Amino acid sequence: MALAADIVERIKKEGEIFPLWEGALGIFNPGVAMQVDIENFKGVAAPAGLAGFFWRTQKPGVTWEAVRAVLLERVKALNTPGALEALYGDMRSEIRSRSGCETDLAWFAIMVSAQPLIDRVITGLPPAERAAIAADLEMRIRRALESGPARESNFALLRRRALEFRVGGIVRRVLRERTRGIRPGENDMAAGALELREALGPGGAAYALTTVLHAISGAPGPVAACMLCELINRRDWRRKLRLELDALETGALCSAPTQAAPVTHRFIKEVLRKWSFPPVVRRFANRDISVGDYRLSKGENYYLSMCALHHSDAYWTDADRFDPDRWLESAADIRPGAYVPFGWRARSCIGATLGVSQLIIFAHLMLTQFDIRLAGDCAPEIELSAVAIPKNFNGAVLQR
Ligand code: HEM
Repeated sequence: MALAADIVERIKKEGEIFPLWEGALGIFNPGVAMQVDIENFKGVAAPAGLAGFFWRTQKPGVTWEAVRAVLLERVKALNTPGALEALYGDMRSEIRSRSGCETDLAWFAIMVSAQPLIDRVITGLPPAERAAIAADLEMRIRRALESGPARESNFALLRRRALEFRVGGIVRRVLRERTRGIRPGENDMAAGALELREALGPGGAAYALTTVLHAISGAPGPVAACMLCELINRRDWRRKLRLELDALETGALCSAPTQAAPVTHRFIKEVLRKWSFPPVVRRFANRDISVGDYRLSKGENYYLSMCALHHSDAYWTDADRFDPDRWLESAADIRPGAYVPFGWRARSCIGATLGVSQLIIFAHLMLTQFDIRLAGDCAPEIELSAVAIPKNFNGAVLQR
């Protein structure tokens, strides 16, 4: 059984905090999960990267919190009307390039979301460098979608390591050449890493930028795939969203996506509740921490689960029902810490606002400019194994 589903079952019998196995504590109470995670990351230093470890290029006392603050500012700049219109254009081109022929629509949604994000993390990459980063991103997503422990051949492992090494080299080169002014760069996340380069040293800045590259190979794609599947399966909601989105010009949509499309926003909040990614996260205790009757020692693991919280009848009425109307202002009464699609504050998602804007843009494109023709025998359904992902979801995307 997948870990998330196993946890949901065990909570019913063992309560909200219990040892999952030796050296690993499961913390599935909203308030306790928040507190423990805050305590665990209080004042934690930013990783110095490999170079920083050997050459001590990082200034002492730089916290990961300070790194996050700089990266968050860069995300804000990517979530402005002009930047979102550019994202809209790039996603439309990505859809067009994948339209016309039958395809796995889950993978289609993943790529349409993840690929354009590469250019928001690092702008102006030469084709060979961009292709290497895209290959690394695809490989990471495919691995995340594998259920069960991956059985990787030696050749595949070697190929993966070689690609990771290549991407590491590209990230360091981008930062080095942009510092020297011999490589152009615009409004992107790399600019944030450059701002941090003096404090973090080259290794720490590369680590920060690589964290962002890894993050875009995580949630944005699978969540977009689940949203597309829900749109296809729920005709009533598809009609409501189309009515709202058809009336919105691109400019109006991109100027304030969540305000311009409140019904779509509600739908997305519910997708994020039901199909959160990842379903479970693992942490290392950075210090000794007391958790009720339990004690976490430094170096031990603890696990948190957005999936367990989002599917708990203790915090949601009819938790397993897909119901965007639960997000109507009059109905929304959410227990603090029970809705965590972007994780827990200390390590929460830096790209949350951009991620939601992108999902709204994707819904707009798929409902107002393109149609989906499902393959004849397809009855798509979202399955939760290692992660939540639509299965049996083949069809063609056609320009309207
Ligand atoms: C709907 C889209 C997205 C979802 C659902 C999502 C979800 C998450 C979650 C749950 C975490 C925390 C994981 C943990 O606690 O270990 C996270 C972390 C992160 N996300 Fe996102 N994410 C999305 C989009 C993005 C985008 C577009 C970016 C970048 C522009 C981004 C950048 C990051 C970064 C850098 C972290 C690591 C933060 C840290 O380690 O302090 N995310 N994301």
